[in-house]
Amino acid sequence: MKCSLMLSSLMTALFAVTAVANANEPAKVAYKGDPAKGQAIGSTVCVACHAADGNSTISANPKLAGQNADYLYKQMTNFKSLGGKQPDRVNAIMNGMIAPYSDEQMRDLAAYFSAQTQKGEIARNRETIEQGQKLFRAGSMAKGLPACASCHGPAGAGMPAQFPRIGGQFAEYLEAQLKSFRDESRANDPNKMMRMVAIKMTDIEIKAVSDYIAGLR
Ligand code: HEC
Ligand code: HEC
Repeated sequence: MKCSLMLSSLMTALFAVTAVANANEPAKVAYKGDPAKGQAIGSTVCVACHAADGNSTISANPKLAGQNADYLYKQMTNFKSLGGKQPDRVNAIMNGMIAPYSDEQMRDLAAYFSAQTQKGEIARNRETIEQGQKLFRAGSMAKGLPACASCHGPAGAGMPAQFPRIGGQFAEYLEAQLKSFRDESRANDPNKMMRMVAIKMTDIEIKAVSDYIAGLR
């Protein structure tokens, strides 16, 4: 009896200690970002290339509108150089543009742009639509190429948290990214997921699938 009483008061003391420790720990839930704060930066800085609502008008500058927030945040952190090291995603313009922003501000920007509605592009090349659609929906058994839809979704809208929206994006930007995954000048994809896809693709296939994806809704 005495022993169990001691044990129970010991347990109570332990619980009290853990409760205090938990209260002092920073919140474990990731900061979601404040779209209003993101808009303030987006509409004064990013606007120059991505437009105020993230619907860029020049194909070298990807559309950010409607993009998955976790993906946007990840790309911003990848563009950032940490401790003077080469950034995980190398692009002279974006490496400079993102440098001044804190982790919280990058979350704010991601929350803002992901909440905007994307204005999609259109497929322009009738002759390659069928080939592009086939690659997107089914991949190629013969080449061991997985369907893009299996990771990016049936309409290319992406899937939280790591698979980006590609549907409606500029064909030229998609093509450039696929080529940089293929030559590994872009190597920030987790587990080489995109490098293993792109390495199996010819220039013609890359062009066809990019044009098809631009027209997806
Ligand atoms: C001077 C033009 C310019 C400005 C200003 C600019 N960007 Fe960019 N951004 C680019 C270009 C070009 C790319 C494509 C980089 C590449 O080809 O890898 C890009 C890519 C991105 C991407 C990656 C998108 C994707 O689909 O992978 C994000 C995220 C991004 N920019 C966020 C921002 C934010 C946030 C700001 C404002 C703080 C900003 N950019 C300002 C030119 C710009
Ligand atoms: C195994 C899953 C998987 C498959 C299959 C896949 N992707 Fe991806 N893709 C990803 C991931 C993950 C990323 C994001 C990489 C990162 O974090 O930078 C990505 C990124 C991309 C990007 C860059 C987007 C941007 O905004 O910069 C393009 C373009 C792309 N994929 C096209 C394709 C195409 C075309 C196919 C089919 C031929 C395909 N993907 C198949 C997983 C996949």
